Formats: sequence, structure tokens, C-alpha cells
Amino acid sequence: MAKIAIMGFGTVGSGVLEVCRRNAASIARRAGEPVEVKYILDVRDFSDSPDAALFTKSLDTILADPEVKVVVETIGGTKFAYPYVRQCLESGRSVCTSNKEMVATYGAELLALAREHGVAFLFEASVGGGTPIITPMHQCLAANHISRIQGIVNGTTNFMLTKMKRENMSFEEALKIAQQLGYAETKDPGDDVDGRDACRKIAILASLACGHHVYPDNISTRGIRDITVTDVKAAEKLDSAIKLIAWYDEGTDSQMAVGVEPMLVPNSNQLAGVDDVFNAVLMQGDMLGDVVFYGKGAGKLPTASAVVADVIDALKDGVKVHDSLFWKPAPKREGLVKDPGTYAWYI
Ligand code: HSE
Repeated sequence: MAKIAIMGFGTVGSGVLEVCRRNAASIARRAGEPVEVKYILDVRDFSDSPDAALFTKSLDTILADPEVKVVVETIGGTKFAYPYVRQCLESGRSVCTSNKEMVATYGAELLALAREHGVAFLFEASVGGGTPIITPMHQCLAANHISRIQGIVNGTTNFMLTKMKRENMSFEEALKIAQQLGYAETKDPGDDVDGRDACRKIAILASLACGHHVYPDNISTRGIRDITVTDVKAAEKLDSAIKLIAWYDEGTDSQMAVGVEPMLVPNSNQLAGVDDVFNAVLMQGDMLGDVVFYGKGAGKLPTASAVVADVIDALKDGVKVHDSLFWKPAPKREGLVKDPGTYAWYI
């Protein structure tokens, strides 16, 4: 029996417990042993929960238990998640996380720390929610050189743009519904609508593609706050759709370009038809050519299923998986990777 702990019992964390229980048999088959959640770390009061016995408010409880081999981090943000994850890795536990802010900010450092301690740091759920993107990229596409990535990686804004297009909703109405459905980031919807969430995700994919850390602060980022129904309708008349596109281009002069911006996408492009909360990422591999990853990019169980897939990998072959993910630290640059405007407005 493999024992795991979950840090942060919000939407994704509670989804992880549910996935582990609902698919216990197939997870056990794939992990080679049953997987049981032994602790849940959360500072809130869960004494009325049927799972009250699992809850702890102290990380020390988890770190003191040698049975716990893998820790899931679904706290979000970096204030608590980052030092907790460091402590888990330093104590010889593998960590699986959905936390794109932490991976985009500290990914290289945490990958190196995990390597130093012979454990894994895995983060499939940090991009694309439940849609496999990171694992296929560093495993199935390992023999390809990835020169370009273009994607819709924020489900909330894609859902909002779809509502604006199909139901003539205003930006505010669409945001309210996205929040009610639990898609929008709870801490700050600005993370979604101002493009910060998409920026963190393309920072992670760009780091994987180029092999060194690409900082979100160096990525030119513009969200959808200025997009109106009039814009969305005008795009339709041009046989196009407005999409929030996150992109990476390795460039020709060894100066890569990375950005996030709303773009006018012609309906002939596959990304134009990606609606609702779906994500799609189009990559160009030098051997394979174009490949598209498409699926639900947000939501409790889809995202939790990707975290649990990492848990299975961490239990079976974590260090090997981790090693193929590795990217190097890089100094933070001043300013943007490349000035915006290179690709402005349409793809
Ligand atoms: N707020 C994020 C999104 C959640 O809408 O894509 C998944 O990362």
C-alpha cells in the first residue's frame, strides 16, 4: 500500500482524493500497489468532514511519517506552496503539483533540488489541466526538436470568449458565470483575464522546449480585458475568432520569442474551433511535424486526474520521469524575451 499526502484541500486537492477513491482499482493496477491518501494538510476546519481523521494543520505530521513517499501540492500560489514543497523534496519525498505559478517561478530550482535528493518533481497538471501536454512533450516527443508552440491554455478566458461569441454576453457577465462554475482562479480573476495564468503556462512549455528556465516576467503578456462583444462579432464577420493565444518561437537568431495576447485566428486554423473550457496546444516537432493536444483545460476531476497520473509515475519510476523533464536554471533577464508586436494580432 502506497501512502500519499495532499497539501491544500481546495478544488483540485479534493479532486485528487475523489479520483484516488473512484478509480482505486485501476490506479492500483498501474501503480503496482493500492494508493491511499493518509494525510490532508489544510489550515481550515474540516472537523465535520467524514474524512476528518485525515486532516492535519502541520506539515511536520507528514514529514515525520516515513510511510509517506509522495506528496501532492494543490495549495496554489507560492507563499506556502514553495517552502512546503522544498521541505518535502529535501526530506526525500517526491512532489506532484498542479501549481503553475510555482513551477513557472521556481521550476528549475525545484527540479534541481529533487534531483539532488533522488526524488521526482512532477507537474503535468500545471498546463492544460487534465489534458496531457507536458508528459507527451518530454516523453513521446523526446526525439523531436520543438521550434514552435501556439496554444489556448487558459480555459476560463476561452469559456468567456465563447459565451461572448455565442450568447452575446458582456465580458462581465461571462466572467461571473466562469467564476460560478469554478473555472476562474479564485484568488484573483485577473490571473485569468489579464493573461498571467496563460503566461505561466507558456513559460513552463517554453522552458521544456528550450531546456532552460524562461521567467514569466520576461514574457510579453496581454489578456482579454479590453475585448468587447463588438470585437468578437467583428471577428466572426472576418471568418475568424478571437482567442487568447500563448506562443513560443525559438527564433532564428538564437533569440527566442514568447508571448500571450488575444489574436484574430482564421477559422481555417485548428485553434479557432476550440471553444468553451477546452484547451489546445499546437506544437511543431522537426521530425513529427505538427501535433495538437486537445482537451479540458480546467475543472476539478480533469485536473486532479493529471495529478494522480503523476503520483503513479512518482511511485513507479519517478526519478526516471523526472530526469527527462529536466531544464536548467537561467539568469533572469531585464525586460521582455522579445518585444511584443512581432506576431501582433493574427496567426
Ligand atoms: N484558471 C485556469 C484556467 C485553471 O482557466 O485555465 C486551470 O489551470
